Amino acid sequence: MPRFPAGFAWGVATAAYQIEGAVAEDGRGDSVWDTFCRQPGAIRDGHTGDVAADHYHRWPEDVELMSQLGIDAYRFSIAWPRVQPPGHGPASARGLDFYDRLTDALLARRITPVPTLFHWDLPQPLEDQGGWLARDTAHRFADYAALAAQRLADRIPLWITLNEPFVVMASGYALGNHAPGKALMLGALPAAHHQLLGHGLACAALRSAGARQIAITNNYSPAWPASDTAADVAATRAYDALHNRLFTDPVLLGTYPDLSAFGLPRGLDCIKDGDLAVIAAPLDALGVNYYMPMRLSALPDSTLPFQMEPIPGYPVTAFGWPVVPAGLTELLILLRERYGAALPPVYITENGCSADDQVTAAGAVGDEDRISYLNGHIRAVHKAMKAGVDVRGYFVWSLMDNFEWTEGFHQRFGLVHVDFTTQRRTPKASFTWYHDLIAAQHD
Ligand code: FCB
Repeated sequence: MPRFPAGFAWGVATAAYQIEGAVAEDGRGDSVWDTFCRQPGAIRDGHTGDVAADHYHRWPEDVELMSQLGIDAYRFSIAWPRVQPPGHGPASARGLDFYDRLTDALLARRITPVPTLFHWDLPQPLEDQGGWLARDTAHRFADYAALAAQRLADRIPLWITLNEPFVVMASGYALGNHAPGKALMLGALPAAHHQLLGHGLACAALRSAGARQIAITNNYSPAWPASDTAADVAATRAYDALHNRLFTDPVLLGTYPDLSAFGLPRGLDCIKDGDLAVIAAPLDALGVNYYMPMRLSALPDSTLPFQMEPIPGYPVTAFGWPVVPAGLTELLILLRERYGAALPPVYITENGCSADDQVTAAGAVGDEDRISYLNGHIRAVHKAMKAGVDVRGYFVWSLMDNFEWTEGFHQRFGLVHVDFTTQRRTPKASFTWYHDLIAAQHD
């Protein structure tokens, strides 16, 4: 492994609903995911996050595992329904206590806490009032961000506002395969603007509550045309606008990308004067989640003018996702070329793969595929850095196996295996591999 600069942050990432469980404890309110999981057929085998990896009770053991792993930073998310069960009003002290204790335990082990404020678990009462389709939710998000920062900002060097707002818009409001399960197609676009506005308003609220550095995390996929026909190239450009630009151009450039391919030559109606200036508030870092590229062909006479094509010729993960490390180098260089001086330092806030991991009788998990995935992608980050992209850290998704949204417990992404019957944690071979990599880099 090539040498990364001193100070490069090696980490792991998780999200509240995927690991915590304890959904009815200490005053936590329902989130849209609690509601969605109860809908028959929504989640594979009817799994839910009710218990998940029981991290809410087992966090000391999990922090101990992180300490053994030797990471510099831990990206977790704060559950809005714990901090503000109704989605508005004063903070729940008990809700914040959990993250306060976790923060202190991490710092005591010299692990930098990097919380994300919204990793998809919107308080259900806010969804009942329109969720991210309603402008008011952006203001509610800023209020919640302020409450979290008032308690924690003295100890948190870097905050992340939103995780993958594209997925919330696309899966949550356009297609309906994620909570809140709305299938509005292009009617979902206000959920993009209101999340972005929420991000901008939260930036101001966080700074006035003492936050030092702020980032947003987007997921990106290099978009490849299935052929070089004009139609496929145009379809790819349309997809790129929606997936890669919609949540980044406004934040870094203060403009929306061209949405004329979606019949919106004049853009979105829900934008009000001054919104873009709020959204384009100065940012200290960009969080990049990368899993795979996308290959697109044209789909004429349809609401969405593209369709996804398979990417043959690469190994695939248990999820069926193609393993393309070079796509991460390509993506990072694209971001630098696209945004130039407007691109802040980058953190890879998620990268990893699911595998069909089995614990042997001897208590070992030989996840060689994961090691090869991580090895390839970490090298791909280094390549981009050599080409001049300013990357400051890398977070593996995920510390441990967890509730993988609509797939329930079927996709295992962890460096640590979790037996969801006994909650027993078993570090996999990739845990030792990542430990050794970090130790060698720190040497
Ligand atoms: C990302 C999510 C994360 C996890 C990974 C596999 O889209 O941010 O919560 O589910 O995918």
